[in-house]
Amino acid sequence: MKLSLPSLSIAAGLLLASSTFLQQASALSLTIRNDVPGNSSSPILYGLMYEDINRCGDSALYGQMLRNWNFQANDSGGDPELEFWNVIEEGSSLASITLDDEVGLNNANTNSLRLDVKSLDSGRAGFLNKGWWGLRVQPDESYKATFFAKSDGFSGPLNVTLEKAGGGVLASTQVDGLTSDFQKFEVSLKPEDVDEASIDNVFAISVDSEDAVGNSIWFQVFSLFGETYKDRENGLRKDIAETLAALEPKFFRFPGGNNLEGQTIDTRWKWNETIGPLEERKGRMGDWTYWNTNGQGLLDYMYMTEDMGMEPIVDVYAGYSLQGDSVPEDQLGPFVQEAMDELEYLLGDTSTPFGKLRAEHGREEPFKFDMIEIGNEDWFSTTYDYRYKAYYDAITEKYPDKTIISTAAQESRPWDLIDDHYYVTTDEMVNNFDYYDNYARSGNGSGIFVGEFATNTEGCCGNSPANLEAALADGVFITGLERNSDFVKMIAYAPAMKRLDQEQWDPDMIHFDTKSVVVAPFYHVFQMYSTHHSDTILQVDADEGGFDPLYWVSGSNKEKNEIYVKVINLDSEPQPVNFNLKGVKVINYGNATFISGQPADENTLDSPSTIAPKKNTFHIRHQNQFGYTFEPYSATVLTMKIDN
Ligand code: AHR
Repeated sequence: MKLSLPSLSIAAGLLLASSTFLQQASALSLTIRNDVPGNSSSPILYGLMYEDINRCGDSALYGQMLRNWNFQANDSGGDPELEFWNVIEEGSSLASITLDDEVGLNNANTNSLRLDVKSLDSGRAGFLNKGWWGLRVQPDESYKATFFAKSDGFSGPLNVTLEKAGGGVLASTQVDGLTSDFQKFEVSLKPEDVDEASIDNVFAISVDSEDAVGNSIWFQVFSLFGETYKDRENGLRKDIAETLAALEPKFFRFPGGNNLEGQTIDTRWKWNETIGPLEERKGRMGDWTYWNTNGQGLLDYMYMTEDMGMEPIVDVYAGYSLQGDSVPEDQLGPFVQEAMDELEYLLGDTSTPFGKLRAEHGREEPFKFDMIEIGNEDWFSTTYDYRYKAYYDAITEKYPDKTIISTAAQESRPWDLIDDHYYVTTDEMVNNFDYYDNYARSGNGSGIFVGEFATNTEGCCGNSPANLEAALADGVFITGLERNSDFVKMIAYAPAMKRLDQEQWDPDMIHFDTKSVVVAPFYHVFQMYSTHHSDTILQVDADEGGFDPLYWVSGSNKEKNEIYVKVINLDSEPQPVNFNLKGVKVINYGNATFISGQPADENTLDSPSTIAPKKNTFHIRHQNQFGYTFEPYSATVLTMKIDN
């Protein structure tokens, strides 16, 4: 990529605006060939890869607002603690909170938070949770809280409140009727007079009745949710989910990535511990250095695919974990069965044991999906041949029509798609533009899934800015992928998201904190490309030059009756192009959507729109001829309506 400082001046900007109307004498000339057959393009080209990394699951996309909500382990996977909970002793009250490992709710939650009220002449006693780096309360939002509680000598009431951290109740309600058996309580909290979103808030449960003195009250499995995406129970934080949905993603690969695999075989993602009511789920030590609660589990992921209209790619654990252990061939049986049970849970009808279990969990109708991936990045292991074979044979015997995705080339069995990953520098990513142009389209595999990619300007892995330079290099790469989208069936950027100040892997496409979401420049490129879907890729002939500094792909969408030209300009100078359309006439103007700026530009919470899409309209003189000048350092989609 050329990174010379741009010399664009205001005068050049004016020239740029006017030149979009003119044919450029010495410009590159591109002829878009609707007169010859094009290649069909994958209808599900743009999608998402998802795993809990950078704190983007618990604390973020998963809408649970309370932290350490079931005391199964501390944040680092060590012994349970009451971290993130604090005692409330107000007025003359004396109280304590303790993690009681002798009183549990069930086999998944074998301890509880015990509140002991020692004295209470005035004020209140209780405890609070500060949320995940704060707890967001927004105007006009309602909150639903649930928890289990019991007491031998105190029947209530319990005050359930949302409060300012520094004091002041925002919303309050009460529950009553505690007994010596755990019961689930569910309340709704609607703060009044909230003018703006804030995060310096807490969730609290307290008592103010003298009847509580001398008594213990036990609590387990709390939840607090604001409005969720599509109002799902146990659902997604709405603003983050809407940001994902606005990409119009067509597929969703989950639950990893590395986070599927476990550091060890025993700490792999176990689907059956992520299902059922929240109180039955077991967390695990995630692969990204923090505890995963599994509050967002298998069924929740599937509902998310339905709510966003995405094809699931169910990635099954395949007997290899990150520290290098492989399940030996003669011991693979139970692991393959684990995957088969998972698939039955999703695909089986209610006459099957796991289909029945799914129905008990609230979903009677089996899911419909086509794609199953076996493992993740198995090029790291030497054992994929026998592992892939074992999973492939079992899955295809029972589900012969599924699309099977292999994560590495191996010789034991065929695959339908192979999952290629790219975390490379700017120049390497740009050089990959034509990687698939000459790729053998036959052989063992029949297609490509670029399951993870991102330009790491500082080199792989995980410590590079999400700036315009990276976005444009990624843009060049996906332009090349779209040119080959008869064969490259799906592409996903990774990692998709990060919590600001908690990142483990940069760059990411969507950034957020407890209050807000901001998107990186590449988000806009991805969205521009994804939302202008071509069903057919058109041949483009170039005169007076070739690729570099411009990279392009053109396509048509029959349903919308539109022609698209997607162009990345890596140069610091504006680039004029003369376009000719063959075999199609378009109406006399087109629409351009583009981003542009300086290579180092990033979007931040303080400046979320440094790089944001701009729009303009361009004139088409002869229904099939026009000039357009691409801004320096830009990604552009031109849209033209076909004139029938
Ligand atoms: O996207 C981050 C990680 O990169 C993924 O978990 C893994 O598959 C890859 O190595």
